[in-house]
Amino acid sequence: MFSKLSIRLGLLLFAILMMMELLLYVGLYVSLVDERVDEVSGQLLARGNTHRDVLEDTYDESTLSHVTVMESASDFIVVITDAEGEIIRQSGPVDSALTATIREADRESAPHAGRVIESGWRKNKYIATDSPITIEGRHYGHVYMFAPTSIIREMLGELGGRFLSVGILSLLLTLLVIPFLTRFITRPLLRMKRVTEQLARGGHPAGLDTGRQDELGDLARSIGKLSKDLDRMKNERNAFLASVAHELRTPMTYIQGYADLAMKPGISGEAREKYSAIIREEAHHLSKLVGQLFELARLDQNDFAVRLSPVKLSALADSVLSLVRPAFEEKGVQLLCNIPERLVVRLDATRFQQVLLNLLDNALKHTPAGKQVHLQATVLKDTVKVEVADEGEGIPEDELSTVFDRFYRVDKSRSRKSGGTGLGLAIVKEIIEAHGGQIEARRRPAGGTVMTILLDKGGDDGTHSSGG
Ligand SMILES: Nc1ncnc2c1ncn2[C@@H]1O[C@H](COP(=O)(O)OP(=O)(O)OP(=O)(O)O)[C@@H](O)[C@H]1O
Ligand SMILES: [Mg+2]
Repeated sequence: MFSKLSIRLGLLLFAILMMMELLLYVGLYVSLVDERVDEVSGQLLARGNTHRDVLEDTYDESTLSHVTVMESASDFIVVITDAEGEIIRQSGPVDSALTATIREADRESAPHAGRVIESGWRKNKYIATDSPITIEGRHYGHVYMFAPTSIIREMLGELGGRFLSVGILSLLLTLLVIPFLTRFITRPLLRMKRVTEQLARGGHPAGLDTGRQDELGDLARSIGKLSKDLDRMKNERNAFLASVAHELRTPMTYIQGYADLAMKPGISGEAREKYSAIIREEAHHLSKLVGQLFELARLDQNDFAVRLSPVKLSALADSVLSLVRPAFEEKGVQLLCNIPERLVVRLDATRFQQVLLNLLDNALKHTPAGKQVHLQATVLKDTVKVEVADEGEGIPEDELSTVFDRFYRVDKSRSRKSGGTGLGLAIVKEIIEAHGGQIEARRRPAGGTVMTILLDKGGDDGTHSSGG
C-alpha cells in the first residue's frame, strides 16, 4: 500500500509545502510587526505634536499640568523639558533609560513636525519621539513621548501565539492532504507496475485504463498497446514456427518416402535413379529453406546493420545480370536493363545484389518465354527508384502486400514444382527496410508485376539498423 515511491514523494511534498508555509509565515509576521511598530510610533508622535500645539497656544502652569494629567491615564509617558533638556514636567516615573534618551537627543536640529528619536524596540526599553516647542520663533522646550516597548512585545507575543496556532493547523492539514496527493500520483504508477509484472509473467493485463487525459493516462495507454503488440508478436511467432515446421516436414516426408522406396529389394535401376533424383531435389530444397531461415533470423536481430557505401548502381546491376542471364536465355525471356551510367547510391552492395537476384529470379519464374523483364533505375530528387518489371501473370490485387509475408505464395499448388520457399520477398523486404527504404508490388495494366524499391540516394551516416 505504502510503496517506497509514495513515501519518498510524500516526504518531498511535505518538505516543499512546509518550506513554502514557513517562508510565507515568516514574511507575513515580519511585515505585520514592522507595520505595528510604525503604527505605535506614528501614534506616539501624533500625540506629542498635539500636546506641543496646545502648549504653543498657552504655555502656562495649568496647561502643563493638564497635559501631564491627561497622559498619566495612558500607556505612554510624556516628559516636557526646557530648551536645554531639563525636565519640567512628567506624567509617569522617569528612569535612567528614559533620562539617557533625553540627554542623548539632538535638541537643536529637531524639526518642528517632530521626529522619532528611538525606534529600536528590540533592544531598548522605550521607543520615543520628540516634538519641539517654538513660541514666536523662540526655541522654548520639548515634548518627549515614550512608549514602553513591553507593550509592543506583549502584542507581538499575542501575534506569535496566533501564528503558532495557524502554523500547527496548516501542518496538520498538510499532513492530512499529503497521503491523498501522493496516492493520487502514485496509484496509477503502482497499478502500471503491477500490470507490467503481469505482462512479464505472460498474463493478460487488466484494469489498466485509468481514464486520465494526462501523461500518466498516456503511459497507461502505451503499456496497453505494448501488451497488445506483445500478444500479436507471440501469435506471429507461433504461426511462424508452425509454418516452419510444416515447410520442413513436407520435403522430409518426400525424402523419407522415396528413400524407403529406393531401398526396397528388387527395384529397377531406373526407378532407383528416379527416386534418388527426387531425394536430391528435396534435400536441395531443404537446405535452401534452412539457409533462408538463417538469413531471416540474422536480419531480425536488433543489432543487424547494413554497411552503406557509395556504389555505382550500373556496375552492381551488370554483375547481377551476368549471373542470371544464362537462366533467362535458357527460358527464352528477354532481359533489359536501363540504369543511368553514373548513378551512385549509398547501399550495402552484397545485400542489394541479393535483393536484385531475388526479384529477377521471381520475374523469370513468372514470365513466359518470349516476354520481357526490365530492370531500371531513375532518380527522383533525393530518392532513387529501382524497378523490376515483368510481363508475367501478375499478382492478384488483394495479395500485393501479402506476398512479402513469410512463406506466402500466391499459387500454393505450383509452389512445389517451382521450388520456391516463399521466403525470398520477406528477406528482400527486411534488407530494403534495413537500408531505410521501401518496397512495394504493383500490377501492370498490361499484365505483369512491377516491384518498386525507393531508397535514399545517400548522404547518410553510414549504417542503418534494421530495427525490431
Ligand atoms: N514477379 C512476380 N510475378 C508473379 N508473382 C510473384 C512475383 N514475385 C513473387 N510472386 C509471388 O509471391 C510469392 C512470394 O515470393 P517469394 O520470392 O517470397 O517466394 P518464392 O519465389 O516462392 O520462393 P523463393 O524466393 O524462396 O524461391 C511467390 O510464391 C509468387 O506467388
Ligand atoms: Mg522468390
